[in-house]
Amino acid sequence: MQMVKLGIIGVGAMGTVHAQSVIDGNIPRCQLTAVCDPKAERLSRFSAAEHFLSVDEFLRSSETDAVLIATPHYAHTTIGVQALESGRHVLVEKPISVHKSDAERLIAAHRNSNQVFAAMFNQRTDPFFQRLRRLVRSGELGLIRRVNWTITNWFRTEAYYQSSDWRATWAGEGGGVLLNQCPHNLDLYQWIFGMPAAVRAFCHFGRYHDVEVEDDVTAYLEYPDGMTAVIIASTGEAPGSNRLEVAGERGKVVIENDQFLFTRNEIPMGEFSKTDPGRFSAPATWDVRIPIEGHGPQHNGILANFVAAILDGATLIAPAREGICSLELANSFLLSSLENRSVQLPIDSTLFEQHLKRLIESSGRQKPKVVREAFDDMANSFR
Ligand SMILES: NC(=O)c1ccc[n+]([C@@H]2O[C@H](COP(=O)([O-])OP(=O)(O)OC[C@H]3O[C@@H](n4cnc5c(N)ncnc54)[C@H](O)[C@@H]3O)[C@@H](O)[C@H]2O)c1
Repeated sequence: MQMVKLGIIGVGAMGTVHAQSVIDGNIPRCQLTAVCDPKAERLSRFSAAEHFLSVDEFLRSSETDAVLIATPHYAHTTIGVQALESGRHVLVEKPISVHKSDAERLIAAHRNSNQVFAAMFNQRTDPFFQRLRRLVRSGELGLIRRVNWTITNWFRTEAYYQSSDWRATWAGEGGGVLLNQCPHNLDLYQWIFGMPAAVRAFCHFGRYHDVEVEDDVTAYLEYPDGMTAVIIASTGEAPGSNRLEVAGERGKVVIENDQFLFTRNEIPMGEFSKTDPGRFSAPATWDVRIPIEGHGPQHNGILANFVAAILDGATLIAPAREGICSLELANSFLLSSLENRSVQLPIDSTLFEQHLKRLIESSGRQKPKVVREAFDDMANSFR
């Protein structure tokens, strides 16, 4: 195979951006051969590709080697399973599913090791996070003691939430900031620091917006080696922050405002504390300059890597099976809030699924009439 024939299922805001990237030639050795969406008017802009209104028909007769799924989240599982069963290579948008049980079903459908199965965690291509991961994993920062990640720059207006019927409902989206905006952060977090042993979280449902799902979260995480972390996320604060602070035995890293600040302890802090005779002394530090340019190839980087994995056997940047970890974190934060207790990880996926079913059944919220399609705004914002 010289060229991957790609079909995109779901050509709303994000799917359109991916489709246009392929058409514009930004993804080497990839051709857009089919698009699928029940909204016929969304297909018409892709005149060179075959058009399908139903997934069944797409999978039965499209000329495609690979599928990119960019539908609302719940359908990532159902369509993902079907697409994998059809034998095609699959790239699924984030989050890979809505809850851990669905993610388990989706991952179980990937039985054929020749099929490439990836997830659109585009922020893994960002050199800021790649560099931090190397520092943490190489031991350069020493034992990690504490992580604080404040991600309150996901500000969204009421108009955003009212702009489409599936957003910010238990039935349509399965969650709020944890499922829509934060999958990237939660994926990066677990990719760099690994999974915690226990979580206590406080999710506020509709704190800032007229929505039934969480739009404000504070979570406290504990690790077997004593590391702790606090993750704060909100779509209601402005101006928000995006500040990631990591305290290790050998120094501190802060990523904020496009800067990567690494302050290194001359003597590891624990050793200094035990050996230095001073009562108010602290380890001497060096400022380490780590030059980083830009934020990497993002979505196009993941898509190009997917194609390279199919054609050349390249290692995936974001294997889809790893998407279960960010879901486990998101689900555990909600579970902890709903049951008002600390929860141990791994969580009981069936227990969380039951909670979600109850939330869907008891949802009394009528979505306000969609006043304006967000589609064009969002598609434009990614260009
Ligand atoms: N990676 C990123 O940076 C990023 C950014 C935005 C959105 N996303 C993800 O992309 C997905 C879609 O988000 P969006 O903002 O494009 O939503 P959207 O509502 O604009 O688009 C979804 C599209 O899917 C179509 N669709 C729904 N059910 C379908 C089905 N069964 N078969 C085929 N098409 C179907 C809809 O008609 C719509 O056109 C979400 O899961 C979201 O999390 C990822």
